[in-house]
Amino acid sequence: MTEPALVVRGLEAGYGKIQVLWGVDLEVAAGSFLAVIGANGAGKTTLLRALTGLIPVRRGEVHALGRPLRGLSAAQIVRGRVGHVPEGRQLFPLMTVRENLDAGADYLPAARPRAERNRALVYELFPRLREREGQIAGTLSGGERQMVAIGRALMSDPKLLLVDEPSLGLSPALASDVFTALGQIASEGVTVVLVEQNVQRSLQLADQAVVLEHGAVRQRGTGAELLADPAVRAAYLSL
Ligand SMILES: Nc1ncnc2c1ncn2[C@@H]1O[C@H](COP(=O)(O)OP(=O)(O)OP(=O)(O)O)[C@@H](O)[C@H]1O
Ligand SMILES: [Mg+2]
Repeated sequence: MTEPALVVRGLEAGYGKIQVLWGVDLEVAAGSFLAVIGANGAGKTTLLRALTGLIPVRRGEVHALGRPLRGLSAAQIVRGRVGHVPEGRQLFPLMTVRENLDAGADYLPAARPRAERNRALVYELFPRLREREGQIAGTLSGGERQMVAIGRALMSDPKLLLVDEPSLGLSPALASDVFTALGQIASEGVTVVLVEQNVQRSLQLADQAVVLEHGAVRQRGTGAELLADPAVRAAYLSL
């Protein structure tokens, strides 16, 4: 059996005196797609921040791609081929689209030889970015910024990609493009962990899914199982 791409055991994390995660357990098979759903404030963004070294792991274990991550810096984690598309996009507003994309590879010696190939993949996923290569990122629309944020993470040549609310603020058509692109990224063999408000679409894409409530996993199953679950439908799908 191949090793899971991500194993999380008893993860606790928070901010100062506020504890947010209370023992999260997860296992994500290599090459699979996990959707994380949950109400506002459940701790989804905090989970991704702890996995990417932006906030410390207080208790518990995290193994990504076979390596223990606890205690590593965000830079060390990204060098270990764990990519992050943060909530809110966080581009360099005064740099061009191309410069923002290349920033994803620039500080990663291992990703540089694959920068050409990865840039071609990004432009294939998001043709609009090729057209706008020279545009200053601060002048892009919200949807275009989201494409750059995903593209920049892909430039770091991840094997595990953690994506936080990519459809936030996008029109249905652009959100649909972003979901299609995530499906394509997963089909290239990248393990994807997706946090999303668009529960319907993310459960349709996902192999496995978990519901995070008050900082712990309350329910898990395949995407299809959770999509059919009456409690999930009542809480997260207005159907
Ligand atoms: N920097 C911070 N300092 C203090 N508390 C924070 C900080 N960031 C988040 N929190 C708190 O941690 C809790 C979990 O927040 P988190 O951002 O992880 O939620 P979320 O599940 O991503 O929600 P959303 O769906 O609204 O994005 C919330 O109560 C939030 O107020
Ligand atoms: Mg969030």
